[in-house]
Order: sequence, then C-alpha cells, then structure tokens
Amino acid sequence: MTVILEARDLVKRYPVGERSVEALRGVSLSVAQGEFVAIMGASGSGKSTMLQLLGGLDRPTSGQVVIDGINVSQLDDEAATLTRRRKTGFVFQFFNLIPLLSVRENVALPFMIAGDAATAHRGRVDELLQTVGLAGKGDQRPDQLSAGEQQRVALARALATNPAILLADEPTGNLDFMTGTEILKLLWDSCDRLGQTIVLVTHEARAAAYADRVLVVRDGEIRDEVVLGRRRDHDPGTLIARLAGLGL
Ligand SMILES: Nc1ncnc2c1ncn2[C@@H]1O[C@H](COP(=O)(O)OP(=O)(O)OP(=O)(O)O)[C@@H](O)[C@H]1O
Ligand SMILES: [Mg+2]
Repeated sequence: MTVILEARDLVKRYPVGERSVEALRGVSLSVAQGEFVAIMGASGSGKSTMLQLLGGLDRPTSGQVVIDGINVSQLDDEAATLTRRRKTGFVFQFFNLIPLLSVRENVALPFMIAGDAATAHRGRVDELLQTVGLAGKGDQRPDQLSAGEQQRVALARALATNPAILLADEPTGNLDFMTGTEILKLLWDSCDRLGQTIVLVTHEARAAAYADRVLVVRDGEIRDEVVLGRRRDHDPGTLIARLAGLGL
C-alpha cells in the first residue's frame, strides 16, 4: 500500500474579531493510492476546512500535510501553489467554471495556467470530455449546459492533469438526486477503472456510500471510521446502519 496523502495533527483556527474559532482540533489521516475516502459530518463540523488543508488551498495553524511524498507545509507559497496544481484536482458544489470560456477551454484551464496554449492538449481534452459523457459539447459555454453537465465539465477539468488526488467538496450538493447519482458514478468509475485516488466531502450517507472508507467528523475531529470496501451496489443501507450503531 502506497500512502499518497497524509495529514499529521492538523489544527486550524480562524480569527474572528478578538477571538478565534477552532475548526480543526488535531486531525491525522492517511489515504492510500487508489483509495476512495469520504469525509462525512454535520454542517460546521470542519469538513471543508479539512479538504482545503489536505489539498493545499489553505495552510493549517499547526500540523503537516504530505501529498505524494511532498511535505507542502514546509514549502513557501509559490512552491505550495505549484505542488497543488500538479498534484491535486478540485471539484466544488457550485462548479466554479469560467463563464466566458468554452467547455473545452474550461477543461484545458489547468494546462493554460501551466503556460501551455489552449489548443496544446486538444486530444487529452477531447478524451476527458468523452470520459464524462460530454463529447460534442466542447464548443458550448457553461451557461448553455445543465447543472449536471456543468459539474461534468468541472470533473473533467479536475482530472485533466492526472492529479495524484481528486478532492471533491459536496459535488452533488447543488444537483437533483438522479444527476447527483451520475456524478457519483463518474467519480467511482474514475477510482475503480483508472485508479484515481479520491477524497469526497459530503453530509449525505448516500454519497459517502460510494467510498471504500468513511471518516466521520464531529466538532473538528475525526471521531469514527467505517470501512465499507469496494462495492458495486453503492447501497447506503450498510453505512447508515453502521453510523446508527455508532450513535450518529
Ligand atoms: N473563514 C472562516 N472564518 C471563520 N470561521 C470559519 C471560516 N471558515 C470556517 N469557519 C468555521 O469553522 C467551522 C468549520 O467550518 P467548515 O466550513 O469547515 O464546516 P463544514 O463541515 O464544511 O460545514 P458545511 O457542511 O456547512 O459545509 C465552522 O464553525 C465555521 O463557522
Ligand atoms: Mg463545507
């Protein structure tokens, strides 16, 4: 087993006026290469904070994050940003697409940010659009797509650079049930077929049920872990029963 992501004793305090809110109170975890891990917890429990630290979007107050062997906590801002771009892909609840760019350009964005021409990776971009079921939509603008299609574009963009880790924060939170299920299946397929490592944040058991392992967060701490293993049915029943058994 290769550990691809490791967090050691992460603490995060946000200053609020004269005081501070302790969003994370010492979180340690490790994620193996090819694993699909879900982070589950109530609103305000610290899930998004955790994901932002794990993906290098923000820095912990104390503690360390190691991504694919690189201790990002020891890097300066510029090197940390480069590592984040190379090693991670993000998907968010509200898609975060650029409205003025075409679908193809949105997917090519990570390459453009790295300094390549928008057209330099045309084959790769078309392949990604195919993977997420959007072949033929490359020339459209995001506002011409449905919410589910926009999330597919965001997913294609997140996968563009073959990131070591895909981090998703409530990727189905703005989608109806069926559309959300399609996105979850795409995530699971990328893990099962391509070996993509995934960390998914969600408050829904039915989304977390796609994961191999579920970390349960409460008040800024990981309180429990439910190991589900790789399954094809994605039935949330087992997870819900296990969570009930934990008194959650
Ligand atoms: N920028 C910030 N400044 C101050 N407090 C913050 C900030 N971001 C988050 N917090 C606080 O930290 C705690 C954890 O927030 P976080 O957004 O990580 O929760 P969450 O589990 O993602 O919640 P949700 O399910 O509602 O998205 C909350 O108490 C929140 O109010
Ligand atoms: Mg959140």
